[in-house]
Amino acid sequence: MSRYFRPNIASMAGYVPGEQPGDEKLAKLNTNENPYPPSPGVLAALREATNQSLRLYPEPLSDSLRNIAAEVYGVRLENILAGNGSDEILSIILRCFVGRGDRVAFPVPTYSLYDTLVKVQDGELVCVDYPADFAIPPELHSANAAVTFLCNPNSPSGTLVSLTEIERLARAVFGVLVVDEAYIDFAEDPGSSAICLIQSTPNLIVLRTFSKSFSLAGLRIGLAFAPAELIAGMMKVKDSYNLNHLSLVAATAALQDLSWMQQNVRRIQQTRRQLVDGLVKLGFYVYPSHANFVMAQRKGQEQKALYQALRERKIYVRYFDTPELRDSLRITVGTPEDVERLLQEIGAIQKDSVNPF
Ligand SMILES: Cc1ncc(COP(=O)(O)O)c(C=O)c1O
Repeated sequence: MSRYFRPNIASMAGYVPGEQPGDEKLAKLNTNENPYPPSPGVLAALREATNQSLRLYPEPLSDSLRNIAAEVYGVRLENILAGNGSDEILSIILRCFVGRGDRVAFPVPTYSLYDTLVKVQDGELVCVDYPADFAIPPELHSANAAVTFLCNPNSPSGTLVSLTEIERLARAVFGVLVVDEAYIDFAEDPGSSAICLIQSTPNLIVLRTFSKSFSLAGLRIGLAFAPAELIAGMMKVKDSYNLNHLSLVAATAALQDLSWMQQNVRRIQQTRRQLVDGLVKLGFYVYPSHANFVMAQRKGQEQKALYQALRERKIYVRYFDTPELRDSLRITVGTPEDVERLLQEIGAIQKDSVNPF
């Protein structure tokens, strides 16, 4: 039984029992959701699609979405796989390329689901520490892994590595390189995406999600971009109808209104500057962020008390209880009002505290 029932490896990143997202006083800055609504075009398309046709199964290969995504991202239909969130695609990748004892490498700290999924597959974890500046650690190139993950921009640091470094890594690794670009739309340089490398790099898979920049976390939509041979393999592993009809409709409409997403990204980038400035004034070191969150650090000083004090004031941020991250908080860029409130509360908590956090 224990072989099959292993609840200890289940990950519910950022999930807080009893949390009430509808609570207006709650500033929910812990799971990197977008504070702005999806495009009005998406909401209209969803309303229109909510009819008797829902009795039918959805498109098995998500062709309508893949067609428009091919146009938007300058690739071909056979270079794209759609998933029920990029989390599902991560799971498909592990099931496709990793069997018992196969090595899976990634730099840490990073997105915690990679670790969980490798354990589910009984793969061998090869975790390589990031250096202080979050550049790609040289040991990653020679880890001899069936799959190497690179989260870019990385979570929780928000830092970005260049396309040149990604190309070099892809050429050096033994197996497949997966670049998880969940947050890439928030990068300062819009040309930072590795999608342009898939034609020339046979072992590269690039992942995108609609949960962050497109404000559609509730509908679970992700895309993988890769050479056709890799996509064909992953297609065999996915469930027959892995994306539901409404998610397909919403994602297609979202790609037809890119300017809505881009406008929200600009607002978030502006609020990110406000958040970084405020945190620096409050005494934090803030890693250079290319995402819709920042990592704020007070070197060597545990931040759990500040995290808890903020929770009591209905401000949720992310605290990671691990030796290397205890002195940091990951904070989602919310609305300017959320950020103002967060900064004021941190200031007030610091004033009240005998030992400053
Ligand atoms: C780095 C990273 N990759 C993937 C995901 C999952 O995205 P999705 O909502 O598309 O499953 C997240 C979600 O927080 C993430 O932080």
